[in-house]
Amino acid sequence: MAELMGNLRRTNYCGSFTIESAGSEVVVCGWVQKRRNLGSLIFVDLRDKTGIVQVVFDSSVTSDLFEKASSLRSEFVCMVKGTVRERENKTDKIKTGAIEILASELKVLSEADTTPFEIVDDTDVNENLRLKYRYLDLRRPTLQNNLFVRHKVCKATRNYLDSLDFTEIETPMLGKSSPEGAREYLVPSRIHPTCFYALPQSPQLYKQLLMVSGFDRYYQIAKCFRDEDLRANRQPEFTQIDIEMSFVERIEDVLYPIEGLVKSIFKETIGLDLGEGHFRQMPYREAMERFGSDKPDTRFGLELVDVSDIAKKVDFKVFSDALAIDGVIKGSVRAINAKGFASKLSRKDIDGLVEFVKTLGAKGLAWLSYPVGGEIKGSFLKFLSEENVKELSERLNFEEGDVLFFAADKDYVVFNTLGGLRLHLGEKYGLIDKDTYDILWVTEFPMFDYSEEEDRFVAVHHPFTSPMDEDFELCSTEPMKARAKAYDIVINGQEAGGGTVRIHRREVQEKMFSILGFTPEDIKERFGFFVDAFRYGAPPHGGLALGLDRLVMLLTKTDSIKEVIAFPKVQTASCLMTGAPDLVEEKQLRELHVQSIERK
Ligand code: AMO
Ligand code: AMP
Repeated sequence: MAELMGNLRRTNYCGSFTIESAGSEVVVCGWVQKRRNLGSLIFVDLRDKTGIVQVVFDSSVTSDLFEKASSLRSEFVCMVKGTVRERENKTDKIKTGAIEILASELKVLSEADTTPFEIVDDTDVNENLRLKYRYLDLRRPTLQNNLFVRHKVCKATRNYLDSLDFTEIETPMLGKSSPEGAREYLVPSRIHPTCFYALPQSPQLYKQLLMVSGFDRYYQIAKCFRDEDLRANRQPEFTQIDIEMSFVERIEDVLYPIEGLVKSIFKETIGLDLGEGHFRQMPYREAMERFGSDKPDTRFGLELVDVSDIAKKVDFKVFSDALAIDGVIKGSVRAINAKGFASKLSRKDIDGLVEFVKTLGAKGLAWLSYPVGGEIKGSFLKFLSEENVKELSERLNFEEGDVLFFAADKDYVVFNTLGGLRLHLGEKYGLIDKDTYDILWVTEFPMFDYSEEEDRFVAVHHPFTSPMDEDFELCSTEPMKARAKAYDIVINGQEAGGGTVRIHRREVQEKMFSILGFTPEDIKERFGFFVDAFRYGAPPHGGLALGLDRLVMLLTKTDSIKEVIAFPKVQTASCLMTGAPDLVEEKQLRELHVQSIERK
């Protein structure tokens, strides 16, 4: 077979030409985006990863060549030799709009069937079809750009962390199951019948052991696996920029280098300078009380206000029932003032909001509306005295044109309700400035949460997280008040990463285990190898993990995590292109000592 490309070799990428290129003889390669036949001229838009260039075939130059060009169809792969010339009808629509290439040679390297959808950015093709033919979908410039940004994030990460003496170390994918946290993906062992490996949810234990080993500063761009319900920003396999450092004690010892990393990533990928100062820190309690969320989007108002003390004086069962809740978790009544919303929200809209908050676990949503030039109305006005209205109006700055929303329940339900309502209104009524990046640390997370189901304290982050020095005693006396040396980095209301300073002293660790209700046998069984390691000299250490996929989503302003991963999974955790997961041969199962109890 004759050589396909002959003596032609690519000289330039399609998107590389400017007016200065005019006059040069070039060879370009790519896919046919579009072909227009004007009788004596054929125009072909040729596309590669850098962009599109217009190629012209002129029948008055060579008829053979013209003939060949007329056989070109969308997505054929070809190679064109020609001369760059200034274009008569210049366009701003493409980068190379000032020039075109007058073809002198054409090689068709590969023909293409009609594709199931047109390869263009502006497409309303069903997502499942795009995912089935992901290799075609990935030809679209937007997706290519997302993956280029992803590459740049990794590159900037490696450069920056290398400059701070971090070492990149790989940790195993096949590990031991550790029943804390999300559900795991298990891999059966052939050699050890009935035994399973677990794929890592994160390299947490390994990275701490690397500190015990003396590596001092570790990082890894690590694949993690979690079998949890998927959302717009969650995938079953995702990637972390995972970091751990030794000889750190204060949270700032970790936060400041990470700020440098994040700034460097923004600069190197989208050219944005985040400025000199440190990122803002907001204690967890403040984030919850003001925004009803531990990942507050602070780009807009609609803040929560505690009105429990006023609600106590109101004879309204919804309020009094909530305020009577006084266990480990207390009840409260809180409100937001949707300023100027009276004219925006019809009665039907408000009813819609009540239904919306029910999907967040609320029992209802009480409201008061004060139309301009009208009377205050609302769902519980009849229970309010004039004095009640006055006090609420003062506390909430309630004026003509405003709508108040009240939630009454256990604290966490109230936060979830109003936090969710706030985001819903912000999004729906365009209150969020999408052009800015709002970056902050949420700090002082609680050490413990209380599991009503299990009737015991559970670790909010993980059991190896250090309490704040001043809250050490509280861990035993009032665990729910004890705060951890834990932090999340929140960007535009998304949790982009999180971590903690760890416990490195045995006696502190033992105390934590006892508060969490682990017996010595539990500890040995669950974390034996890990706890043992700390008997042989562990440095103080801490770290965090940034969600790489979420960072790329933020940098590219993309709403779906699937758009920043080359081959993502859908909501049901399957891959529409390969068909994974799928049945396997009986023989494979036998080898693995696995028997299926259910077959499709
Ligand atoms: P954490 O569980 O908070 O911490 O995870 C860190 C970051 O990883 C990202 N992330 C995800 N991204 C996509 N899909 C998912 N399913 C998913 N789950 C988490 C988030 C999150 O902030 N080992 C600790 C870190 C530490 O303590 O150092 C950890 O994994 O952006
Ligand atoms: P009801 O007495 O159930 O008819 O409720 C009266 C008003 O209070 C309605 O507007 C309900 O939506 C609202 N409501 C019910 N439960 C709650 C709650 N937990 N928090 C706030 N408002 C509620």
